[in-house]
Amino acid sequence: MPETTAIVYFSGTGNTEAVAGFIENSIKRYFNVEAFKIEDITKRKVDFDFKKFHMIGIGYPIYGFNAPRIVFDFIEHLPVSKMINAFVFSTCAGPLYFNDIASYKVKRLLESKGFNVFYERQFYMPANIALKYNDEVSKQLCNAAADKSKIMAEEISNKLVRSRRDKIGPMLISWLYAIEKRAWKMIPKDFLVLETCTKCKKCIQACPLDNISLSQNKISFGDNCLACYRCVYSCPARAITAKKYKFAIFKDGYDIKQIINNDNLKGNFITEKTRGYYKIFRNYLFKE
Ligand SMILES: Cc1cc2nc3c(=O)[nH]c(=O)nc-3n(C[C@H](O)[C@H](O)[C@H](O)COP(=O)(O)O)c2cc1C
Repeated sequence: MPETTAIVYFSGTGNTEAVAGFIENSIKRYFNVEAFKIEDITKRKVDFDFKKFHMIGIGYPIYGFNAPRIVFDFIEHLPVSKMINAFVFSTCAGPLYFNDIASYKVKRLLESKGFNVFYERQFYMPANIALKYNDEVSKQLCNAAADKSKIMAEEISNKLVRSRRDKIGPMLISWLYAIEKRAWKMIPKDFLVLETCTKCKKCIQACPLDNISLSQNKISFGDNCLACYRCVYSCPARAITAKKYKFAIFKDGYDIKQIINNDNLKGNFITEKTRGYYKIFRNYLFKE
């Protein structure tokens, strides 16, 4: 039987989905590959026959220097494997110091399930909250992700071992996560639905955890939120905003597909001489 790789990912607003797509296309050259969204598996929209696969890749966006809860829940429900090879990929907004331990818990959980996590890679993609990157930078990061996916596929096909160093410093103060977790709980409580809401229910359909409902002609949010912001950015009326944390939400929305499909963007904004904030991407784009 030909070897088939499963790529299983969660993506709140499309960045990780785009990267999963790049990786899928690149891996196709070496193995059969099937890609799955985690929520499609957990909502039983698709059949995920774990035994079919010789290798599994887990992808997710970094939230608060860690993986989203839905990823841990998914892995916890996997049967114990017998040293199936696994790789991990994540997307994040840049080389933040604490991001270096963002795969630590995912890797340990996978290993406790018997997986051999031999490869991991972090992709810098545009921030989807708080600090909007300019479109040219966003395009450049997407192009880089596509290029790095090709390298990744080749390395994986050669069984190259690539592991990020989990930095001791951030791990020691991982109690910070507790604060982060509380913040994620506060974010959905802060959501405010404006009167411009047309009750189209797109937010309800978009929610990966079915945490949004329409009752008494009002959209309301339950307690089971990932703070992925998919509801916010999938609202055609941009009617989901915030009471306190307005700064986090981009007024013009967030649409990574539009960036990827926009051929007018050249994606060469950052150079080896770039200064200012975008300087943080120079190593990633030109040296790694
Ligand atoms: C709630 C939340 C927390 C985030 N935390 C981090 C973080 O700790 N580090 C980081 O670099 N980016 C962080 N980001 C940015 C996302 O990781 C990044 O934009 C990612 O590519 C989004 O992927 P997605 O579109 O697949 O959801 C965060 C985004 C959200 C919504």
